[in-house]
Amino acid sequence: MRTQLIIFIVCLMAYTSCGKPDNARLVEEGRVLVESNDCKTCHHPTNKNIGPAHKTVAEKYEYTDANVKMLAEKIIKGGSGTWGEMAMNPHPDLKQEDAEKIARYVLSLDGEQPK
Ligand code: HEC
Repeated sequence: MRTQLIIFIVCLMAYTSCGKPDNARLVEEGRVLVESNDCKTCHHPTNKNIGPAHKTVAEKYEYTDANVKMLAEKIIKGGSGTWGEMAMNPHPDLKQEDAEKIARYVLSLDGEQPK
């Protein structure tokens, strides 16, 4: 009986920690999407280019769901004014879901975990 209880608790812990592996998967998918898109023309992971370094972007924003949505929207619609005069081109072909994976990848670059 006791062993069963322990097994049950261990399983429950494994189940509830699923958030993390799931985040790791989304971040990895986001990284692949960045690699296969035009982002590298203007963004370097750690150095400023035409656009801000993606790591600097990560340091500016907390890794929250609200910021994931906000950055996903900015990637799709493009825009300027947050980092300077230079504008980011819109990416209308990106699906919201994929843009959010990209935003997760960018926000993870300073080592932050989702809040
Ligand atoms: C033509 C150059 C260019 C390309 C291509 C580009 N960006 Fe940008 N990006 C910029 C510039 C310039 C800014 C700063 C905009 C601003 O100041 O509001 C920026 C800002 C950002 C930001 C921060 C937005 C904010 O509001 O703080 C993220 C995230 C981002 N880009 C991701 C991407 C991703 C992902 C891609 C590829 C799908 C991409 N960018 C492609 C130029 C580019």
